[in-house]
Amino acid sequence: MSVSLTSPLVPASDPRATDGLTVWPRSTRPDRDGDVSVGGVSLAETAARFGTPVYVLDEDEVRERCRTYRTAFPEADVVYAAKAFLCRAMAHWVQEEGLGLDVCSAGELTLAVTTGFPPEKIILHGNAKSPEDLDTAVRLGVGRIVVDSTSEIARLAAIVPHDSRQQVMLRVVPGIAAGGHAKVRTGTEDQKFGLSITDGSAQHAVARVLGQPRLELVGLHCHIGSQITSVKPYIAAVRRMIGLMTRIREQHGVELPQLNIGGGHGIAYRPGEESLDVQALAGRVLTELHDGCAKVKLAVPRLTIEPGRAVVGPAGVCVYRVLSVKRTGSHTFVAVDGGMSDNPRPALYGVRYAPRLIGRHSTAEPRLVTVVGRHCEAGDVLADEVPLPEDVHPGDLLAVPVAGAYHLSMASGYNLVGRPPVVAVKDGAARTLVRRESLDDMSRRDIGL
Ligand code: LLP
Repeated sequence: MSVSLTSPLVPASDPRATDGLTVWPRSTRPDRDGDVSVGGVSLAETAARFGTPVYVLDEDEVRERCRTYRTAFPEADVVYAAKAFLCRAMAHWVQEEGLGLDVCSAGELTLAVTTGFPPEKIILHGNAKSPEDLDTAVRLGVGRIVVDSTSEIARLAAIVPHDSRQQVMLRVVPGIAAGGHAKVRTGTEDQKFGLSITDGSAQHAVARVLGQPRLELVGLHCHIGSQITSVKPYIAAVRRMIGLMTRIREQHGVELPQLNIGGGHGIAYRPGEESLDVQALAGRVLTELHDGCAKVKLAVPRLTIEPGRAVVGPAGVCVYRVLSVKRTGSHTFVAVDGGMSDNPRPALYGVRYAPRLIGRHSTAEPRLVTVVGRHCEAGDVLADEVPLPEDVHPGDLLAVPVAGAYHLSMASGYNLVGRPPVVAVKDGAARTLVRRESLDDMSRRDIGL
C-alpha cells in the first residue's frame, strides 16, 4: 500500500500522533520510560552501543518513500538525488526500489557504480564538471549527462569514443522563483545554474548539441529549487519547458523525447509544518504535461523527477549527548557533542528543528532553551527556542528528527571532531553503514611537516 508522504496527516490512531512525533519515521514508538524506538530499535540503546553523535536511518522508511514515488509516478523515471545522502547501502536500497540515481561528481558516481548501481540509470549533473567527472561518466557509461554550460558541450563531445553516442539533456533556467531559502532557489536568472531561455543561451546550446554527432540530445532539464511545498511552481516550469520544446521543434524540426523537472520536494521539519503532497504533484504535473503537449501537438515526453530530501530526510534521526547546560540571564544553552560540523543547515539557512529529550522520563516543566553545538563559534546553534524539560542536564540524550538529508552529505571536518557514524535500523536490528571518522582517519591525510 502506498502511504502519503505528508506527515502532518498522520492518522490519530498512529502512536506518533499524540506525542509530537508526527515528523518522525513511521516506525517510531515512544516508550513509557521516555525512550523512543525507531525501526524496532531503542535510540538510547543505539547511543550506548554506537556512541554519540549517531545518525540513525530507518531503512523501511526510505524504501516506503521510494515506493510512494514509484506509485505516484508509475510512468516516469524516479531518480534519487544522491547529494541529499549517499552511502553504499542507500544506493542499494534505491536501486532495489526501482529508482535511478542523480550524482554530481566522479566521487558519487564511482561509489554508486562500484556498489553495483547500473550506470545507465545514473544521471550526471554539475554546473562546473571537472575533466575527471566527465571522463569517469563516459568511461563508466552513465545514462544521461545534464549539460549546464556551453563550454561543456565540445569538451564532452571530444571524450566520447568514435563508435558511440552520449545521451545528454540541457539544463535550462525557466525563470521561476521557488524554494525554502535564497541559497536553494535555482530557477531564476540571477544564479549559477543552467542556460537562460531569456537571453537565448539555451537555444544556442540546443543548436550546438545538435551539431555534435557524438552527442544525442534527449531532452531538457530544469530544477527550480529545494524545499518547495507548493505544486504551483512545478506547473509553471512544465509550461515554460513545453514552450521551449515547441520552439526547438520549429527551429530544428526535432521533438525531444524526455523532460526532467528536477527535485526540490519540501518536507516538514517540525510538527505542523507543511510538506509537498507528492500525489497532488503527480496528478497536476501529469495533467499539465498531457494537456500542454496536446495543445501544441507535441508527443508527450517521458518525465523524470529527482527527489532527494523527501526520500531520505524524514528517515533519519540524529542522537546527541548533552555535554553542558549553561544558564546566562534570560538564556539557557544546552550544548551537545555535535553541531555545525554534522548539521550546517541551521547556520546556513536558518532552518528550525525540533530536538527531543530521550532515554529518560522527566516530569519537569518545559522551558525554552537554545540547543547549541560544540564548535568554536557563536553561530553554532542547532535549534533555538526549543521546549525541553527544565531538569535537562549533562549526560542526557537529545534526538533530532528529519536528519536524513543534507546533514552528513554536507558535514565538515571543522575542529577535527570527526564525522558521526550512520546506523541502519530495521525489524529490531541495528547495523553500521558508515563508521565514525576517527582521529586516525583525519591525521593520516596530514602528511607534511
Ligand atoms: N536535482 C538537482 C539538479 C538538484 O540540484 C537537487 C538539489 C535535487 C535534484 C534534489 O533536491 P531535493 O529534492 O533534495 O530538494 N543543501 C540544501 C539543499 C540543496 C539542494 C541542492 N540541489 C539544504 O540543506 O536544504
